[in-house]
Amino acid sequence: MGLPEERGRSGSRSAEREEAGARNRVRSWSPPPEVSRSAHVRSLQRYRELHRRSVEQPREFWGDIAKEFYWKTSCPGPFLQYNFDVTKGKIFIEWMKGATTNICYNVLDRIVHEKKLGDKVAFYWEGNEPEETTQITYRELLVQVCRFSNVLQKQGIRKGDRVAIYMPMIPELVVAMLACARLGALHSIVFAGFSAESLCERILDSSCSLLITTDAFYRGEKLVNLKELADEALEKCREKAFQVRCCIVVKHLGRAELGTGDSPSQSPPIKRPCPDVQISWNQGVDLWWHELMQEAEDECEPEWCDAEDPLFILYTSGSTGKPKGVVHTLGGYMLYVATTFKYVFDFHKEDVFWCTADIGWITGHSYVTYGPLANGATSVLFEGIPTYPDVSRLWNIVDKYKVTKFYTAPTAIRLLMKFGDEPVTRHSRASLQVLGTVGEPINPEAWLWYHQVVGAQRCSIVDTFWQTETGGHMLTPLPGATPMKPGSATFPFFGVAPAILNESGEELEGEAEGYLVFKQPWPGIMRTVYGNHERFEATYFKKFPGYYVTGDGCRRDQDGYYWITGRIDDMLNVSVREKIGPIATPDYIQNAPGLPKTRSGKIMRRVLRKIAQNDHDLGDMSTVADPTVICQLFNHRCLTIQ
Ligand code: PRX
Repeated sequence: MGLPEERGRSGSRSAEREEAGARNRVRSWSPPPEVSRSAHVRSLQRYRELHRRSVEQPREFWGDIAKEFYWKTSCPGPFLQYNFDVTKGKIFIEWMKGATTNICYNVLDRIVHEKKLGDKVAFYWEGNEPEETTQITYRELLVQVCRFSNVLQKQGIRKGDRVAIYMPMIPELVVAMLACARLGALHSIVFAGFSAESLCERILDSSCSLLITTDAFYRGEKLVNLKELADEALEKCREKAFQVRCCIVVKHLGRAELGTGDSPSQSPPIKRPCPDVQISWNQGVDLWWHELMQEAEDECEPEWCDAEDPLFILYTSGSTGKPKGVVHTLGGYMLYVATTFKYVFDFHKEDVFWCTADIGWITGHSYVTYGPLANGATSVLFEGIPTYPDVSRLWNIVDKYKVTKFYTAPTAIRLLMKFGDEPVTRHSRASLQVLGTVGEPINPEAWLWYHQVVGAQRCSIVDTFWQTETGGHMLTPLPGATPMKPGSATFPFFGVAPAILNESGEELEGEAEGYLVFKQPWPGIMRTVYGNHERFEATYFKKFPGYYVTGDGCRRDQDGYYWITGRIDDMLNVSVREKIGPIATPDYIQNAPGLPKTRSGKIMRRVLRKIAQNDHDLGDMSTVADPTVICQLFNHRCLTIQ
């Protein structure tokens, strides 16, 4: 059991002062001995040795890891070349350029044929209803992916083409993305909670030639007619003179009518009475997934791609402006997600891993699909939500599949905390060993609840800081090695060299607070913004030449622990009138119960601007986490101004 070590003065426990208290109350929790005993990295000293080598000799460090993967041809030139300094020319990052491989081959064929894990379960699929389940082995997944690759090929998809995917968390989503990767086509996955307008915008930005979607699905009690939204998006595209070649539709809610096919992912038993969802059908554009799959061959030669060829585009909303199409390339991303998965979750072959994130986000790309599969792991793929049919759903699933490593967001933890301990403790959770969080700073209160109630004080907590742009974890504890401090993402992962800069761009040593930047490339870093390299350079490299700028504020404490303080562009300098000038003084100050944030915690500044102008035409609001906050702000504004 990890015992708390009281190393400073105790802070106040009142809700308002929790954060300030946490800063002063420097507490650390040692990794549980039962996790450390079998861990890949068992001590802080060993972590430090490995980290030093990874940063000082990145080519050798990642070169050794690359040997575990299949390369059709090896790297003919330098293993790593880059420029991080805008004053010296174009920003570029190239890992293993000229080497050829295929990521789909590495996460499926290699696991089935070289590792002989064909019969191992790749995914336990758990539907929205607890009774809707199915499982799919590595061999079965490979066959499905080959078939669907043949389907895509038949529809004219070739290397370099862009394919939009708009689907709920069903096995076909994984099949679709891996089939794109097999052909060297770029998948652009759009979260199924997004609006038709968001989908249209993303299809247009990267001129996707094909869309893959689903008839409909349930999210808890709510029925989402996804096909209707997809149709609306395609109609909007046509209005802008853009036409996708075809739209492939998975029959998901209507699956029961199909009977049992030979595909394991074709017929999970949908128990819920299926309403008569009206699906409109556009002849000449729409095609049923199951009909195309029936005719497809079981084998498909992968397209051998350059390590620096693009693998996917994923749009990140940011707090201002139009979404950016973050581009990841396949070689570096593959090494990085495989390695972070192995060390951060301390993966062992008997593990059952569960990341609750939707594949529509980077967390799902890296830690539902590519990272676990590259390691031959068994994962849970969950379609539902934590509160349906009741608030103990997550722990029910943990027990059902004996989940050992669990990864979720602080928002989910805070939500479940409100319902008390009983929905958690009524389940055993004895299988759990490592509990992860991602997406925003975790407040110490939620961290402690996660550690003490969910993890029964015998699990390691890994608070992982990273971004869509970084591809994988950047600051994170290692579960068997790093003493944990609630609310701190602790130390850099292998290959990551963080620094804290002040406003003038000077590196701060020791205890400090300022801009979090990274000094050198790691393999998973994004390579460009799709179709707009200048925006890539301007967003991440202009402010401090020579560094990748995260946009997050950060504090380093006396023990060298990193604490993310939030997005820098969300902060308002209030050192008021003489220093900044009278034009910057606020017209009025409004107290607010909360701010409009995206699901990943970024403040939506364009919405704040609209509220300030009392303009209710807010545009696309599908990324907002809690729309009620906006109504409250508008109401409150009227009262304050009048
Ligand atoms: O502000 C940081 C916050 O989420 C941002 C990245 O958001 P996104 O690209 O949507 O990716 C989320 C999933 C990787 C970061 O710039 N963030 C992410 N993880 C943490 C975090 N803030 C504090 N602690 C974290 N563990």
